[in-house]
Amino acid sequence: MEQEETFIKTPGQMMKLAAAAFFIPILIIMLLITFVTNGQKPEKPTAEQTALLIQPVGKVYMEGDTVPGEPAESAAMMPVVAKVANPAEQYSQVCSGCHGAQGGGGLGPKLQGQASTALVQKLTAYKNKQQRGTQSALMWAQAGGLSADEIKGLANYITTLK
Ligand code: HEC
Repeated sequence: MEQEETFIKTPGQMMKLAAAAFFIPILIIMLLITFVTNGQKPEKPTAEQTALLIQPVGKVYMEGDTVPGEPAESAAMMPVVAKVANPAEQYSQVCSGCHGAQGGGGLGPKLQGQASTALVQKLTAYKNKQQRGTQSALMWAQAGGLSADEIKGLANYITTLK
């Protein structure tokens, strides 16, 4: 009696084929998993980045300031994280368009000459979406993303405008 032609000739080959049929897909799935998760793994921050993340929030440098214990150029070399917290820059980039470069007013009211406590109070009110004037919604958008420290920094900076 003639057997049908197949590459499986012995029970041993059958076992190997069964094992391969079982393990090869598992291997492929494992490879795919490592491939996919590798791509999403957040990169370990460097010591420098970690130091930046955990530095005191209230640390603020004005342009031209000398940072104690550090060379004069370090303020300019501070990476973006610290620069965002620089109220002078923040004011000139975000606020001055409506309130004037020196806080003299424009689309928004005059800020120059206001006490820093009053400015903090008003900005905090806007941050909390409180209605003050008729155009408060404009300021909600501005103050909504500010932290309490940024508000303090901005208020202090505005009092220096002349
Ligand atoms: C799109 C224009 C615009 C921008 C940008 C803007 N403001 Fe205003 N701001 C206004 C307007 C308009 C008002 C008046 C809102 C009202 O009617 O309550 C106002 C009100 C204020 C007040 C209250 C003034 C007062 O005496 O009642 C403060 C303080 C203030 N803004 C600070 C800031 C600061 C700080 C920034 C930058 C983070 C900023 N604003 C960005 C338009 C703007």
